[in-house]
Amino acid sequence: MTDLHLWLRHEVRPTERRTPIVPSDARRLVESGVTLTVEESPQRIFPIEEYEAVGARVAPAGSWVSAPPQAVILGLKELPDGPDRLAHRHIFFGHAYKRQPGAAGLLRRFAAGGGTLLDLEYLVDDTGRRLAAFGYWAGYLGAALAVLQQRGRLGAPLTPTSKEELDARLRPVAGDADFTALVIGALGRSGRGARAALQAAGVEPTCWDLDETRNLDRPALLAHDVLVNCVLATTPVPPFVREADLDDPARRLRTLSDVTCDVGSPLNVLPVYDRTTEWDDPVRRLRKEPPLDLIAIDNLPSLLPRESSEDFSGSLRPLLLDFGAGGPWGRAVDRFHQASREHGIAEGELPHD
Ligand SMILES: NC(=O)c1ccc[n+]([C@@H]2O[C@H](COP(=O)([O-])OP(=O)(O)OC[C@H]3O[C@@H](n4cnc5c(N)ncnc54)[C@H](O)[C@@H]3O)[C@@H](O)[C@H]2O)c1
Repeated sequence: MTDLHLWLRHEVRPTERRTPIVPSDARRLVESGVTLTVEESPQRIFPIEEYEAVGARVAPAGSWVSAPPQAVILGLKELPDGPDRLAHRHIFFGHAYKRQPGAAGLLRRFAAGGGTLLDLEYLVDDTGRRLAAFGYWAGYLGAALAVLQQRGRLGAPLTPTSKEELDARLRPVAGDADFTALVIGALGRSGRGARAALQAAGVEPTCWDLDETRNLDRPALLAHDVLVNCVLATTPVPPFVREADLDDPARRLRTLSDVTCDVGSPLNVLPVYDRTTEWDDPVRRLRKEPPLDLIAIDNLPSLLPRESSEDFSGSLRPLLLDFGAGGPWGRAVDRFHQASREHGIAEGELPHD
């Protein structure tokens, strides 16, 4: 049994249809003794009735601000701009530990209210491996969009869809030209997703991971029609593609899909563009002749909200059943305190109003 009171909040971003806990996992949590409150949310991919049917309490959108103090507030993306003082324990992707814009402000709100951020990105095992992530579906979509672009079938704007619909569009039709594809970071979560999407599209990709890029064969890379980059770079390595390579007359590469999207970072392995692309306008032409098109969308899994939520929720549920038992949660608390110190916010310090 557990005395956990989990409060699943509405996401403020209007395009965010994903949720960290889906109804089938909500049922398992409730059956294990978790008190679960779910906020109403017009855009969540699962209707509130499905949570109610498995024993969750229903609350209005945004009512977490007045939730009981012991409730643990669960979401995915950013909190609304208020309140100034965050008193609860919050689980979500805070994007606040790498000095991102707004990071100090968010950490100060926690310091002011005495609350804690348990950042989903830093929920790791004792080897530092992430325990709940959206990578597989990011890779699946990154490769799927590349296939559609390469076959001249990628429309705009992009809208959330289902895997069934997407796979139907991926199947080759008579007249489609064959092409070659390379997945780098092929052994990781998003790499596996990319390989699966290419398989659904009838394309057998070349797969590279650390071993194959140690002595990078750039001509071999540029000889593929499509590149799907799925690496998680942790130390700087020579870029996979440089500006000069785009003008290499031997370049076959036509479609570059960067799932990693490390644009602007010193770890960026594709320093050939300076801003991501968006759902409204997913493709940017980097070269006219011969053409080279870039897809670099940093919220890919939101395009498959049901499948990506189910996958993520399946990883998070067992961790929630162990909530507070040290391990990953203890490490997440330590990481929060470390980040607060790095921002000059001492533990328990209340900033001046
Ligand atoms: N665009 C999006 O919407 C989106 C969503 C989720 C994740 N991501 C990003 O996708 C990236 C990959 O995430 P993941 O969950 O698949 O990570 P992961 O750790 O599961 O896999 C990364 C893989 O990259 C490999 N790799 C690292 N450096 C390499 C190198 N120099 N050469 C070749 N292979 C290398 C690793 O060995 C590993 O197999 C991350 O940067 C993540 O932030 C993007």
